[in-house]
Amino acid sequence: AAGDAAKGEKVFKKCAACHSIEEGKNKVGPSLHGVVGRECGAISDYKYSKGYQDACEKGFTIDEAFLDEYLKDPSAKISAIAQTKERSKMTFKLKDEQDIQDVTEYLKQN
Ligand code: HEM
Repeated sequence: AAGDAAKGEKVFKKCAACHSIEEGKNKVGPSLHGVVGRECGAISDYKYSKGYQDACEKGFTIDEAFLDEYLKDPSAKISAIAQTKERSKMTFKLKDEQDIQDVTEYLKQN
C-alpha cells in the first residue's frame, strides 16, 4: 500500500527525538531534510558511525527500498551492505510496515 504523508508526519514524532526535518539541523542523528534521493551519508558536518560509513562506501542512494529495510533494523541493513559486523548507531527500529510507508511518504515531501 502507498504511504500517507499526513499519517507519516505523526509517525515522524518517533524520529524527532533524534532527527530534525529542517535543513542543516543535526541532532543525535543527521537532518532528514530531503533524505529520500540523496546519497548515503551525505551530511558533511555529521559524524556517521564506522559501520554506516563502511556501508556508504559501497555507494548507494537513500531510496524507498533502502528505507523499507533500514527502518526495520538499521544495524542488520548496514552490516548486510558493508559486509562487516559493524552496526549503525541508530538503535531505533520501526517495525510496522504501514508506518514505514507513511513516514517514507512524509520524508519524500520534505
Ligand atoms: C540515521 C531515518 C529514528 C538515530 C538515519 C538515516 C535515516 C534515518 C534515513 C540515514 C541518514 C543519512 O544517510 O544521512 C530515521 C527515521 C526514524 C528514525 C525515519 C523514525 C521512524 C531515529 C531515532 C534515533 C535515530 C529515534 C535515536 C534514538 C539515528 C542515528 C543515525 C541515523 C544516530 C546515524 C546512523 C549511523 O551513523 O550509524 N536515520 N531515523 N533515528 N538515525 Fe535515524
